[in-house]
Amino acid sequence: MPRVKDVYTKEKCEEVTTYVSAKSKVKDPGITEKYYDLVTDFFEYGWGKSFHFAPQTKTESTREAMLRYELKMAEALKLKPGMKVLDIGCGIAGPMKNIAEKSGATIVGLNINSYQIKKATQYIQNSGLEKQCSFHHGNFMQVDLPNGSFDAIYAVEATPHAPDRTACFKEMYRLLKPGCCFAGYEYALLPNYDANNPEHIAIMEDIEHGGGLQKIPPIAELKQAFIDAGFKILALQDDCTEGLTWTLPLEKGMRSSKTGRALTNTMVRVLEFLGIAPKGSSEVSRFLNMGADAFVEAGKRKLFTPSLFFLVMRP
Ligand SMILES: C[S@@+](CC[C@H](N)C(=O)[O-])C[C@H]1O[C@@H](n2cnc3c(N)ncnc32)[C@H](O)[C@@H]1O
Repeated sequence: MPRVKDVYTKEKCEEVTTYVSAKSKVKDPGITEKYYDLVTDFFEYGWGKSFHFAPQTKTESTREAMLRYELKMAEALKLKPGMKVLDIGCGIAGPMKNIAEKSGATIVGLNINSYQIKKATQYIQNSGLEKQCSFHHGNFMQVDLPNGSFDAIYAVEATPHAPDRTACFKEMYRLLKPGCCFAGYEYALLPNYDANNPEHIAIMEDIEHGGGLQKIPPIAELKQAFIDAGFKILALQDDCTEGLTWTLPLEKGMRSSKTGRALTNTMVRVLEFLGIAPKGSSEVSRFLNMGADAFVEAGKRKLFTPSLFFLVMRP
């Protein structure tokens, strides 16, 4: 787990300040790569090894909910020993480690960000899974691997970074063997979202900017993208149904909750004032908090879900 002093380094603070002020809307995977250079340590500090949301009941912990949710996807794909699986946008291998351990499948983690691959490789080695798990540095919009390389593909909150969903899904179609499935969790707008409401627009823009994401589409648009890519849709549903919430870790808990984030922010401000933390540190906190607050607001108003489960098959 990184320490605050490791996260708020001078270089990172300067880079994040530049990213924030640029308010970049460039639809370029290079921007995503840069974004994860900046935020990976902050995310690990707040979230641990898995960087995703999960529909959570009132009685389970965030960790339990996240693990349950990762394994639900692995079960939907019927992963088992002998299968060759691709994890696109694998982060620092939090979900991959859990899925590999549970399923026994052989998993390749694809990631555009080399800093994350370095961390993921270390984590997999420390877990003794290096014979089962490996990594491939690359862009999921165009993967330099042969047609039909995989028995299954999954994506945990990675494809919201795709500049063109249909093109990305077509690439997954190409990489799968016929009769095999692609599953994962997507970001989607819900019916409550009103494209003419300036508050709704502002909330979603803060999520997109704060998360280094592309435009988040309505469910119908994602459905069409899977169909246009050639897939047969087996399931496409918002998993955050009645009684479940995905915003809990941003509202309660030690580090990623509003209180936890406010405490970190205050501490960082003091450290910056005393000249211990570099200039720009509190700007970094403010930027990440802005994105987190927008997520919570979108959750409360039911404008958006980060838990759109999909299971599609290459016929
Ligand atoms: C929100 S994180 C999720 C990470 C991981 N799936 C998890 O749940 O912990 C999104 C991931 O997608 C990766 N990513 C974004 N754009 C990508 C691209 N064009 N090609 C490959 N990976 C990409 C990022 O580097 C990051 O690892």
